Amino acid sequence: MKIIKTLALAAGIGALLSSASYAEGLSGKVIGFSQIGSESGWRAAETSVTKAEAEKLGIDLKFADAQQKQENQIKAIRGFIAQGVDAILVAPVVATGWEEVLTEAKEANIPVVLLDRGIDAPEDLYLTSVASDQVKEGRVAGEWLVAEVGDRQCNVVELQGTVGSSPAINRKQGFEEGIAGAANLAIIRSQTGDFTRSKGKEVMEGFLKAEGGGANICAVYAHNDDMAVGAIQAIKDAGLKPGSDILVVSIDAVPDIFAAMVAGEANATVELTPNMAGPAFAALDAYLNAGTVPEKFIITESKLYTPADDPQGEYDRRKGLGY
Ligand code: AHR
Repeated sequence: MKIIKTLALAAGIGALLSSASYAEGLSGKVIGFSQIGSESGWRAAETSVTKAEAEKLGIDLKFADAQQKQENQIKAIRGFIAQGVDAILVAPVVATGWEEVLTEAKEANIPVVLLDRGIDAPEDLYLTSVASDQVKEGRVAGEWLVAEVGDRQCNVVELQGTVGSSPAINRKQGFEEGIAGAANLAIIRSQTGDFTRSKGKEVMEGFLKAEGGGANICAVYAHNDDMAVGAIQAIKDAGLKPGSDILVVSIDAVPDIFAAMVAGEANATVELTPNMAGPAFAALDAYLNAGTVPEKFIITESKLYTPADDPQGEYDRRKGLGY
């Protein structure tokens, strides 16, 4: 299932544009933001970037943390509708089960913008979706691993994201596509670590135990950096060297994975920008103030980083941005 569709970058509202110059008309608007929770460093960064962008633009942002529960998100969205907000941002924890509440928002004439995750629902229930191409992220990770191992036999263990979430579904699919042509690579174990560091560690410990203490594992592919950082700890606890005995490839590009690269313990990450709010606010400004309907899918970049890309510099740069 491919939830996030790969479409051309929206003209004029690319992720690289600064929201400040494009969303000034949102000053004084009330916008509800239903956030998933704080399961990862990336999620925390997205929350702080969104709050900072809103403050810069004079938006009255109503923030609701759903603590990983869809029912809490649905409640929060209903609350925003009752308050009569001007728009709603939602990062949907899972892909299904949104039709009813989004229909209510539509009937109340409140535009909804999806952030960072996709849903299985009719497209007319949301104004636009600002997200990465998550299939591509997985494919980039898989292709990197194929090139890295060359002809060597490589058994891969996979740490999946939250069950039923679009990044877990799409990053799995993309990685499988990325390694499809290489007969020497195989995913031998795959389990959810729910995008958290603690579960990533716990699941990796199980993989290591089940696979001869790790002797049978060549690489771990984690659907986010936090699970990779947890896996790195598990690998070290098992007496092996992450980054060399077991290769580590993941997605997000948060500061902690660059710190792991500096230490020689991580090998590659695919960047997911935490600034989904910039393009979202720009789209809402154009829609609310000029009636301009944005592209349905605003796709952010997916850049690969390895230890050759100045990990210390990348760490410092992100810390400087407040991640
Ligand atoms: O939806 C984006 C994913 O959610 C990030 O990759 C992960 O870190 C977060 O939990």
